[in-house]
Amino acid sequence: MPEIAWDAKLYDKQHHFVSDYGADVLQWLAPKANEHILDVGCGTGQLAAQIAESGAIVLGTDASADMVANAKTAYPNLNFEVVDGTKLPYQENFDAIFSNATFHWIENQNALVEGLLRSLKTGGRLVAEFGGKGNVKSITDAIKSAAEQLGFADRVLTDFWFFPSVSSYSSLLELKGFEVEQIWLFDRPTKLIGEEGMQVWISQFAQHAFKNITKEQAEGIKKLAVEILKPNYFINGEWVADYRRLRVKAIKK
Ligand code: BEZ
Repeated sequence: MPEIAWDAKLYDKQHHFVSDYGADVLQWLAPKANEHILDVGCGTGQLAAQIAESGAIVLGTDASADMVANAKTAYPNLNFEVVDGTKLPYQENFDAIFSNATFHWIENQNALVEGLLRSLKTGGRLVAEFGGKGNVKSITDAIKSAAEQLGFADRVLTDFWFFPSVSSYSSLLELKGFEVEQIWLFDRPTKLIGEEGMQVWISQFAQHAFKNITKEQAEGIKKLAVEILKPNYFINGEWVADYRRLRVKAIKK
């Protein structure tokens, strides 16, 4: 996973759309009372709490201790654990696994998918949504272009997320032992909060891009990237990010 400092409070205040949109994916999960459900990358726990409203028994896991601490405070009756998604320690414990806006952060996809498979009972379902092929391309293009213009092209990274196509992700799941029941790739333009929304988004989510340059150099690139994006993505006083989602439902054979 790229190094990223998660700030759970900022995440909830500025980027609560992550779990707002996630509520839609829950319809594919359709949790039932008494099912054991694992939420991988639970963040601050809102979606785990919504799953639990069905009567399911939920365990939320996240690699960030800050996120898990916030989730435990917000939902003291639910279970949360700090667990790296590539090291899921479960053996056929779950009827279903849910994940929203997490898998694109994980570099070792083989370890992730093998762990998901191992954690599910036979016939169990995986329902996940994350960034798909082409996700936030206008933003990464703008960062690249700004870095080039300012002479840092070879030191700025923009390809550290996993945004697969429908065919490559289906192949990966099938290779590991899942049967893909449904998989969609779709555009989901996403409003960012406030006039500083794009600058804040880049600072929060793309901080890994600037790990080889100084803070001042990074600020210069971010400022220029925001200027490049503004004519097309600051619409009627609101920032819109070009999100593309990959949503999948797959069954452990
Ligand atoms: C996403 O949810 O698609 C996303 C969020 C942050 C960085 C990259 C992608």
